Amino acid sequence: MNILDHFQLNTIPESLRSMSKADMENRVREIKEVLGTRLFMPGHYYQKDEVIQFADATGDSLQLAREAAKNKKADYIVFCGVHFMAETADILSEDNQTVLLPDLRAGCSMADMADINQVELAWTELQKKFGDTILPLTYVNSTAAIKAFCGKHDGAAVTSSNAEAMLEWAFEKKERILFLPDQHLGRNTAYDMGVKLEEMAVWDPINHRFETEGDLEKVRVILWKGHCSVHEKFTIDNVREIRKQQPDARIIVHPECSLEVVQAADEAGSTNKIVNTIRNSAPGSKWAVGTEMNLVNRIAAEETDKTVFSLNQNMCPCLTMNRIDLPNLLWSLESIMEQKPQHVISVDAHTQRDALTALNNMLNRGH
Ligand code: 13P
Ligand code: SF4
Repeated sequence: MNILDHFQLNTIPESLRSMSKADMENRVREIKEVLGTRLFMPGHYYQKDEVIQFADATGDSLQLAREAAKNKKADYIVFCGVHFMAETADILSEDNQTVLLPDLRAGCSMADMADINQVELAWTELQKKFGDTILPLTYVNSTAAIKAFCGKHDGAAVTSSNAEAMLEWAFEKKERILFLPDQHLGRNTAYDMGVKLEEMAVWDPINHRFETEGDLEKVRVILWKGHCSVHEKFTIDNVREIRKQQPDARIIVHPECSLEVVQAADEAGSTNKIVNTIRNSAPGSKWAVGTEMNLVNRIAAEETDKTVFSLNQNMCPCLTMNRIDLPNLLWSLESIMEQKPQHVISVDAHTQRDALTALNNMLNRGH
């Protein structure tokens, strides 16, 4: 479903819009108190502080997927994150649990880069070229339909926390991997595992062909041509600039950044790894961080004995993550109170079954 379909559905009532921030916060607290354990609110690290302050669990994609799978008590899961995360929560939760996304416009440009029809077409072509030698893996940052595709073909989901473990798992089963939809996470992970660049090829779904033709026989990892519009903004020039201006700073980046940025950085890892590495570093350490701005600012505010700043000073936050704000959160909670839950995320049973296979293949293996 295209998130633009929902634009007209998203008009916050005037009564909410005119409330002060303090009144909104008090009302959220009040509703949380009334609903108690009937309500569960996971919040991704990239969410705004005005939202994350109310989250019952905060974490990266893998942690939140595990939390959603664990919570069997809540009637309502209000997901403070983006659309594919709420879908994942719906797939992993019980039938009697309702998942809400406070603003349906909170999509993900990377997830939108792999459309199921494009993937089906590519798969047919790749089967012709390589026969039955490919296992599909998808970053959780993808639609439920893509996860279902992977489940149907014995593949799995992966997150940035477990990508290496999942690639190892996949290579035990098949000779080749189709990695969707983030070429960078796929390339960075495979490269770290010793797969050579000439053993990777980028599939361009728009032109329906490999980006470079050559000896495709040796290809072991087929990278879908998708990327994160936030993390692609960190460049090798940013790294050079920091090395010049602040040579005592260590550089840590997310593996959604390009290979050249990841290779030039001192460390790379999922948002959880970034948070923990900085938290556990010595007082006085200096960090230039290549990930989403809300998180970088939060770490900087929390780790007062360290200097933490963005690797790219002109960075914007993830605009779709930012769609979830206090008014939308409150609006969502009020809809539960009125017993008319709105912006419910519900994956159809057929898709859910196969997507669950892909997610379980990850949750049972990935660490
Ligand atoms: P992780 O939470 O897996 O680090 O992914 C980052 C991200 O871009 C989420 O949208
Ligand atoms: Fe999608 Fe990138 Fe935003 Fe994550 S940070 S939700 S991958 S656009």
